[in-house]
Amino acid sequence: MNRLFFVFMSFISISLFTVNVNATDVKENNTITLKLPPKALSQWYKPENKRQVWLHTMFRLRREMLAMRDYAELGQQKDLEKWSQKFIKDYQSIGEMIPQWQEHLYLEQINKLETAVKERAYTSIPVILKKIDKSCMHCHDDFQTIATLLYRSADFSQQKVQQKDKTLDYDESMEQLSDSINRINIAIKDSYFEKAENLILPLEQQLKQLSDGCNDCHSKDNVIMERIIGASQQLLPELSEQLKLEDKKQSGRKLGEFAVKVCARCHAVHRLSSDLKQQLQ
Ligand code: HEC
Ligand code: HEC
Ligand code: HEC
Repeated sequence: MNRLFFVFMSFISISLFTVNVNATDVKENNTITLKLPPKALSQWYKPENKRQVWLHTMFRLRREMLAMRDYAELGQQKDLEKWSQKFIKDYQSIGEMIPQWQEHLYLEQINKLETAVKERAYTSIPVILKKIDKSCMHCHDDFQTIATLLYRSADFSQQKVQQKDKTLDYDESMEQLSDSINRINIAIKDSYFEKAENLILPLEQQLKQLSDGCNDCHSKDNVIMERIIGASQQLLPELSEQLKLEDKKQSGRKLGEFAVKVCARCHAVHRLSSDLKQQLQ
């Protein structure tokens, strides 16, 4: 996982000043250029805003397009009018929220849509909507993934892990955990079983301190605690048993299982996005 990620990252260079390059353009010199959305977008997200205004506008746009398509097909004029008015308002609000993005909007198609609705030109409505949809797709191709990463993925850069006598940054806490696991691994490999067993308690404590911090964002989410932290409460005593039996092979397996169920499961959700997000900021 780790190696793959670093190989992946070494091929990406992020530029603040790209103009015409699509996010997925692979350049000849093996770099990918990503476009960053305007900083002003942050005001339409938590914590700057009380609500996820931008995202909810987007969800409404998709719903409104579907409603218009369906009501046009059924010829339900009143409902079509209602949804088209909502849609036009939301579509125009994109340019009001982010003036630089005004140019992404197909406002002439919006005029056509308004006229088609008024004139009950039901068959031309899906054609116009399809054209408008292209403006959605163009902007999404350039900005959607990065915006999701920047404004909606968990931010661990400010997250702290509280220990008895000190406070660690997240990456410091991760290095500590990694060292603990590697020390146990080395001790098992060299048949220092008692030493390995004595290292379990400190690891357990480090994990407990890490898991206290999950609640900062996952209030009362017991399922997550059971799936990830709970796995350690079962696996570490089992590892201890194998070490008492001085069973090198089974001890190694248990430690591996622990690393997958506790560390890798959380990394699958949080690590890649956290690392990428920090690279972008
Ligand atoms: C000028 C840029 C821009 C335009 C135009 C635009 N969007 Fe978006 N849209 C975004 C960005 C940025 C995101 C990512 C938001 C996020 O993940 O928080 C997004 C996300 C979305 C999502 C959420 C997808 C998901 O499930 O996470 C939907 C739905 C959506 N847009 C619909 C539309 C529709 C429909 C249109 C056209 C009528 C449209 N958008 C036009 C920028 C744009
Ligand atoms: C800084 C806030 C934050 C912290 C701290 C945090 N998470 Fe999360 N977590 C999130 C968010 C937000 C999501 C939703 C997915 C996303 O957008 O990244 C999530 C999703 C998850 C998921 C996947 C969703 C699910 O319901 O299965 C798991 C598993 C998870 N977190 C585990 C943990 C564990 C374990 C810890 C502590 C060791 C932790 N998280 C700490 C913010 C956080
Ligand atoms: C929240 C769930 C979570 C759990 C559980 C977790 N990690 Fe992490 N890990 C992260 C996040 C997030 C990062 C990126 C942190 C950063 O870059 O600041 C990370 C990064 C790392 C790093 C790289 C540190 C660096 O300096 O870039 C290592 C090594 C690591 N974790 C090891 C482990 C080990 C070993 C375990 C299991 C004992 C573990 N992690 C459990 C979330 C988790």
